[in-house]
Amino acid sequence: MAQLTLEKRYGKAAEVIKSLDLQINSGEFVVFVGPSGCGKSTLLRMIAGLEEISGGSMYIDGQYVNDDTPAERGIGMVFQSYALYPHMSVYQNMAFALELAGHPKQEIDQKVRDSARILQLEHLLERKPKLFLFDEPLSNLDASLRVQMRMEIATLHQRLGSTIIYVTHDQVEAMTLADRIVVLNKGNIEQVGTPLELYDHPANEFVAQFIGSPKMNLIPAILKRAGAEQSLVELDNGKELLLPIATPAEAEGQSVNLGIRPEHVQWGEQAECEYQGEVMFVEHMGNETYLYLDNGNAGEPWVVRNAERSPIAAGALVGIRLPAACCYLFDREGRAFRRLLPSAQH
Ligand SMILES: Nc1ncnc2c1ncn2[C@@H]1O[C@H](COP(=O)(O)OP(=O)(O)OP(=O)(O)O)[C@@H](O)[C@H]1O
Ligand SMILES: [Mg+2]
Repeated sequence: MAQLTLEKRYGKAAEVIKSLDLQINSGEFVVFVGPSGCGKSTLLRMIAGLEEISGGSMYIDGQYVNDDTPAERGIGMVFQSYALYPHMSVYQNMAFALELAGHPKQEIDQKVRDSARILQLEHLLERKPKLFLFDEPLSNLDASLRVQMRMEIATLHQRLGSTIIYVTHDQVEAMTLADRIVVLNKGNIEQVGTPLELYDHPANEFVAQFIGSPKMNLIPAILKRAGAEQSLVELDNGKELLLPIATPAEAEGQSVNLGIRPEHVQWGEQAECEYQGEVMFVEHMGNETYLYLDNGNAGEPWVVRNAERSPIAAGALVGIRLPAACCYLFDREGRAFRRLLPSAQH
């Protein structure tokens, strides 16, 4: 549907988009996700034709569109910064600024109707763009409206089968809406994959900590014994753990990071646990509980998610278990070693 090989520089400044290479299939819902400033809006504006492409090429349905105007590209876009009020009609939204400026009612009515005619809204409503672009359309809405609109957008996509590129920094929106997620960081693609591919097999620590909420805990360790089917790691407290993760022989002895998601950490008797820590504070969400543990390191506290209500209070000393099948492992550059998951989890 669309083939993007794009680069972007603003003037002489450093590259904002660095040789991005991406193929988007017809009817696909692709979500670009990444932290603020990573280049998401820039990318959408380049696709829409509102921002010049500094390098590379762009094809829509096999047609080279680099030099085409936004109208010629057949694209519809919802912008990040808009001032539309959801409780007002289109007419009221158009009239609002004029009302604030104190224009007489009759004049406002005339201007709104003239603008609507000039903008040919009826004609635009009937037009069916080839590609829809959404730039964080839900970020200004309150929580319940956001959930409702998320469902509306998913339903719309199912019904129309249109190709959508959707930008957000909300990983829940990315996970729930996307056929494929593109994780961006500082103008680079970190990884492209289905939501569950990214959750189960993040390519690196950045993706591992960006997808999933609260984010994955990372624990310093040493790779004691490498292997094609199992790897033995020694945690920073001296305990050893055998993981179903493939590591190459040359990585043996390397400092690594073991990753475990808050939802996979288990409680246990302190004596038989891989770790113990003091509970620093507890967050009760009603349906689940988050416990923050002091792990003895200077780094961030670990987060443990409990599906039930927990009687554990701040100050308690608890033992935690790290189920081997749920662990992730990253080399010293932060790249993931391959996890060997049972087929049901793939
Ligand atoms: N017109 C411009 N001129 C110069 N630099 C710009 C321009 N627009 C954006 N930038 C820079 O390009 C980078 C990417 O900006 P962009 O708006 O694309 O990020 P974003 O991922 O959409 O962020 P956010 O999540 O905050 O919307 C930022 O460092 C920004 O400062
Ligand atoms: Mg933006």
